[in-house]
Amino acid sequence: KQTIKDLDFHGKKALVRVDFNVPLTKDGDVSDDRRIRAALPTLNHILEQGGALILVSHLGRPSGDPTADAPFTMDKVAARLQELIGRPVQKADDTVGPDAQAKCSALKPGEIVVLENVRFNTGEKKGDPEFARALASLADCYVNDAFGTCHRNEASMVAVPEQFPPDRRAIGFLVEKELTILDQLLGKPKPPMVAVMGGAKVSDKIGVIENLLKKVDTLLIGGAMTYTFLKAQGHEIGKSRCEDDRLDVARRLLDLGGGKIKLPEDHLVTTSIDPKEAKTSVVEGSDLPEGQIGIDIGPKTAAAYAEIIKNAGTVVWNGPMGKFEDEPFRAGTLKVAEAMASSPAVTAVGGGETAEAVEQFGLADKVSHVSTGGGAFLEALEGKAFKSLDVIPDRS
Ligand code: 3PG
Repeated sequence: KQTIKDLDFHGKKALVRVDFNVPLTKDGDVSDDRRIRAALPTLNHILEQGGALILVSHLGRPSGDPTADAPFTMDKVAARLQELIGRPVQKADDTVGPDAQAKCSALKPGEIVVLENVRFNTGEKKGDPEFARALASLADCYVNDAFGTCHRNEASMVAVPEQFPPDRRAIGFLVEKELTILDQLLGKPKPPMVAVMGGAKVSDKIGVIENLLKKVDTLLIGGAMTYTFLKAQGHEIGKSRCEDDRLDVARRLLDLGGGKIKLPEDHLVTTSIDPKEAKTSVVEGSDLPEGQIGIDIGPKTAAAYAEIIKNAGTVVWNGPMGKFEDEPFRAGTLKVAEAMASSPAVTAVGGGETAEAVEQFGLADKVSHVSTGGGAFLEALEGKAFKSLDVIPDRS
């Protein structure tokens, strides 16, 4: 793909689509600025090359009701960017309206403006060409550095870049890095290739598991989806979470996997998912006692998974092994995270919750890559192509 290295930004205004859809606290403060930090190399490069920045992102899923949507303003995000980039950042009160137009037309090289939440405009979701033209008219060229949004076909991802001549469209360093790691995972992964899949639902991961089974030597299962697989095999799962309407899917995936899919061989069980009331114990084997809830992989499973991860050439991990946000149920997810951190393999972590776990354990710098994508990372692992990237030409 054409990258920002291929474009000349001198004296130019670059419209950069970023994914600043960051988690907010109840008071509306940015609680995790990982996605903002991840865009800095691209932003700094364009500024150093003599360009000016017009940044556009969505934040949350506004409903169209201005009162309910007020917390989704980009004000706090712009303020956090200003702290992180160490230069003044202006914030426009609209996306393509009079304030955005005035601020963008007065923009000088080295200056930065953050437009208001692009999803405050109904044309964004619809991919409306008129809205796309209005947004594109603010700038001289377009950069996609919004990896987390690449699976969306909204105006700012597809119709806006189409407004620019092909030689003025590029991907930023973040998208480039994410695509490089995806290629290492899905192209010719260094063997043995291992996938670790956790989380609550099999239904969210069917396409990912199907595609990964074509690539991996071993697929390790954890999280609550374990119990849908175990029930599908005819085991007793106590009161564990289970998708009863997906047992046939689970059976099909197990058949498809041949011997590649590994399920936990022991379990941390509890009588209550409330950590204050939890009485936990470890159960060996594949059958859980009546009334017990499987809440984490057991210590034997954690050790076995850690060993497989340490001996792998490539590992991709999505989905926690248990209810890691509560201390009594954390051990399995922590052990897998530590194994990822100390493995010599190419190790990639993706999906909101898993990235959060690795950050929380302070291990984000020890794995090869923590993706900024949630849904986008999963769809990429499913092998889906993205229109938002198809509109960026290949390098000539
Ligand atoms: C994400 O957080 O996965 C992206 O920012 C996309 O957000 P969306 O799911 O609201 O489109």
